[in-house]
Amino acid sequence: MKVTFILAEAALETLPVSLQKDPRVISSCKKFGKKPENCLLDKSLHYWAMDKLKDKEKRGRPDIAFRVVQDVTSSPLYKSGMLNFFIHTYNDYVIEFGDNVRPPHAYFRFEGLIVDLFKKKTIKDANGKVLLQVRHGKVKDVLNGMGLSSAVGFEINGEKSTYEQAAAEIVAGGAFIIGGFPSGNFSTETASIFSKKLSLSQETIETDTVACRVIYELEKILLFKK
Ligand SMILES: C[S@@+](CC[C@H](N)C(=O)[O-])C[C@H]1O[C@@H](n2cnc3c(N)ncnc32)[C@H](O)[C@@H]1O
Repeated sequence: MKVTFILAEAALETLPVSLQKDPRVISSCKKFGKKPENCLLDKSLHYWAMDKLKDKEKRGRPDIAFRVVQDVTSSPLYKSGMLNFFIHTYNDYVIEFGDNVRPPHAYFRFEGLIVDLFKKKTIKDANGKVLLQVRHGKVKDVLNGMGLSSAVGFEINGEKSTYEQAAAEIVAGGAFIIGGFPSGNFSTETASIFSKKLSLSQETIETDTVACRVIYELEKILLFKK
């Protein structure tokens, strides 16, 4: 059995065109030897220029997706082909991960890969196997593509659950969604897809910590109890 994980509304995007001509952004990119069109929006570097951006508190945290990608692709569940992985971004792009993708461990290489992906739309290995694909789409499009109409969602203000209970719900339903943004809540559109909204503690937990722990509980059900 395969389950699907969607990292939703991830704060992962190339620099918006409106910011690419900002002198502060140009000089920040230059420090890394890059042109603005080859950089990801990053709050730690472009904070002052982000002032006029809509939803600025939810955007510009590519490190969140970077960490989740490392955790997912190194998990036994993904490596054994039992976890489909997608990143849905703030701007409604969907990145689909193929099997056995080994992403770069260094952040600057990850940034280069994502910028390249948005330009080329597909990244293949030396044998022509598709590793990553990006297209316009919403969370519901990903689920529909998997023959599903809902997924277990994780949010602090949901129904109290342990990681173990959450994994059992996911196995029953087939998919789960974790937010790839630093603060705020899911959009009403994404939240309307949740079959259940589960809260794992009264405090906010880092996205990659939630992902790792949920995946481990799924492994206990799907891999280790075989
Ligand atoms: C850093 S949080 C986003 C901030 C959000 N206000 C929050 O506290 O959940 C990123 C994601 O991790 C998951 N998450 C964080 N803390 C959680 C909790 N206590 N229970 C369930 N999910 C949580 C949610 O999917 C959330 O969208």
